Amino acid sequence: MYRHIVVLTGAGISAESGIRTFRDQDGLWEEHHIEDVATPEGYERDPELVERFYNLRWEQLKSTDVKANPAHEALAQLEAEFDGDFLLVTQNVDDLHERGGSQRLIHMHGELNKGRCPRSRQTFLLREPFGPDNVCTCCIPPQRLRPHIVWFGEMPFGMDRIHDALERCDLFIAIGTSGTVYPAAGFVDIANHHGAQTVEVNLAAPDRHSQFQWHLTGKAGDIVPRLVKAVLQGKSLCSLADVLQETD
Ligand code: APR
Repeated sequence: MYRHIVVLTGAGISAESGIRTFRDQDGLWEEHHIEDVATPEGYERDPELVERFYNLRWEQLKSTDVKANPAHEALAQLEAEFDGDFLLVTQNVDDLHERGGSQRLIHMHGELNKGRCPRSRQTFLLREPFGPDNVCTCCIPPQRLRPHIVWFGEMPFGMDRIHDALERCDLFIAIGTSGTVYPAAGFVDIANHHGAQTVEVNLAAPDRHSQFQWHLTGKAGDIVPRLVKAVLQGKSLCSLADVLQETD
């Protein structure tokens, strides 16, 4: 049925794994001002504060009770078994897609478990928390590694590849994202414009501005495995009436 699938995930797909989202009730932004911890200016102003914010999230990611959930695993199955083009794009900086078995994905907002040399832009797997002594090995003198995170005002990664895939796709699935941050929030418009079927999976009911043709209300961990199974069986979204609630 489908030949080219693009999947976009947001913090909601990791919520059932114990990773806090940004804008839900006890979201990450409730405790911090975005401009203080997620902008180049904030880092310039107070690198220690920004390092503390990311070191805390990196520690949380390493705790043993944070595991990939059935939604991550279902997307890995889709990547492995779907015989058409498949691209997974995540806004998440955790490595739960990889822990769930995904191998080919684009972390468009960067990765929590990596540091980046500010001069060469070379990335390094994080082996210790960010700090004045955590420096690159590619420069003389060595440079203090910065979080390999795309901050507000910086260009997300992989945009050319993502745009190409969106223009070719016949199915676009967004999972666990509030659709409030561009350019990711605009991906559905590109997919719709190029004739794809578009569906979003979200715990919250769709708002009236939703551009998605279909909306699945519920937990990603419950819905994504059923959606992946149906897509792999060659079913179209229309034939999934029992699973889909069409946006009115
Ligand atoms: N299953 C499905 N959806 C869920 C679940 C769940 N278990 N839990 C929460 N959600 C939904 C919420 O209803 C919300 O729409 O996930 C979405 C999370 O939204 P945000 O917290 O805004 O996260 P996200 O959309 O990924 O944010 C995008 O904003 O701050 C930047 O860089 C940051 O990548 C992030 C970007």
